[in-house]
Amino acid sequence: MKINVLLIGSGGREHAIAWKLAQSPLLEKLYIAPGNAGTRLHGENVAISETDFGAIKQFVLKNNINLVVVGPEEPLVRGIHDFFLADAVLKEIPVVGPTQSGAVLEGSKDFSKQFMARHQIPTAKYETFTAGTFDKALNFLKTLQPPYVLKADGLAAGKGVLILTGFDETVSELRNMLFDKKFGEASAKVVIEEFLHGIEMSAFVLTDGKNYCLLPSAKDYKRVGNGDTGLNTGGMGAVSPVPFADTEFMQKVENRIIRPTIVGLQKENIPYQGFIFFGLMNVAGDPYVIEYNVRMGDPETEVVMPLLKGDLLEAFLSLKSQELNRVKLEIANQTAVCVMMVSGGYPNSYEKGFQIHGVECVEDCLAFYAGAKFDFSTQTAITSGGRVLAVTALAGYLEEAMQKAYSLVSKIDFNKKYFRQDIGKDLLELE
Ligand code: AMP
Ligand code: GLY
Repeated sequence: MKINVLLIGSGGREHAIAWKLAQSPLLEKLYIAPGNAGTRLHGENVAISETDFGAIKQFVLKNNINLVVVGPEEPLVRGIHDFFLADAVLKEIPVVGPTQSGAVLEGSKDFSKQFMARHQIPTAKYETFTAGTFDKALNFLKTLQPPYVLKADGLAAGKGVLILTGFDETVSELRNMLFDKKFGEASAKVVIEEFLHGIEMSAFVLTDGKNYCLLPSAKDYKRVGNGDTGLNTGGMGAVSPVPFADTEFMQKVENRIIRPTIVGLQKENIPYQGFIFFGLMNVAGDPYVIEYNVRMGDPETEVVMPLLKGDLLEAFLSLKSQELNRVKLEIANQTAVCVMMVSGGYPNSYEKGFQIHGVECVEDCLAFYAGAKFDFSTQTAITSGGRVLAVTALAGYLEEAMQKAYSLVSKIDFNKKYFRQDIGKDLLELE
């Protein structure tokens, strides 16, 4: 039987997932809510917001949707999967993405730190404080060495983590978070943790709560400027797999982190069907968890999806019956590099509405649209966000993939475009 799928989200991640799902022989029709200029190449965009559960329900029923795939965290943390399970008809339709009880791994840093402590999963030493325990927070800070790490407990659109060098500045930011609600309710609780020195990378699994499938590792480039300088962004590029995440290191990640996480979820009766994104720090060869995300990363998805050889839709369909072990998602023996082309000014203010040219010159689907929408009057894609286009290239070696990606980037143009010129360079130097 062929099936109808609704994919929720509108970023480069969703374009990459749509591109992958469209290759499945099991797919009848793909809809994307709300989608972007890229997802429409692989299905039909529908103008429904990702958190409008009522409208999603109507659409699912009217269009005989057989599977819902949730790209971003917000609908998960707000309980989209629980909403389906609570409905007599919708509950039969599988949702890829955890229920709220699992999504809290990303939705609350305090919960995720306690979860790691309960299951002996390596992570930075920490304590959690509220306005009522401010004095204790100061005492805890005094026991730490700078830089200091302050994390808003709740979701803060990727901005809730502060890394500060001065003690006084840290105290003042902590006050802003706890008393002046710098991140709203999200910073009513603050996790203060030890700073870990090392190199960051991420591991990803797809799990049905019992079995898991390890996806290729990836490294994201978060800072806006070359050489990891300037402001934090959603991600300016990515490389997969990560050369230093070799078999020995990944064994440690599976044994010390991934398996204990899956077993921990089982022990706590938290059903989990979906992706888990492990943000890790390699500290002198040992992995530590920096954070959990309950979805794929963006732009990590734009390097991971092109490396998957199997049928992702078949894997998604096996989750509800916990039969992921029957599906093979093989991984290509190649390296993928993604360069994010952004609107000049991002992550601060930027202009949008500019036509994007040259995408037709690159190999079709390896240019994944992010903040770009299709303008029906001109029949072209126009910029509509900070991160505009994720350009991914695959090759046998990292250096070759970097050259290919940058050659594709040079053919694409839009007003005020900007991109980092050094995606992958640090890894080349480590090799
Ligand atoms: P995010 O949670 O994605 O906003 O990212 C926060 C970033 O802060 C991470 O990607 C790390 O680079 C950094 N970070 C978070 N926690 C720590 C820590 N304990 N030690 C060192 N760096 C950290
Ligand atoms: N690129 C980081 C994230 O998706 O959270």
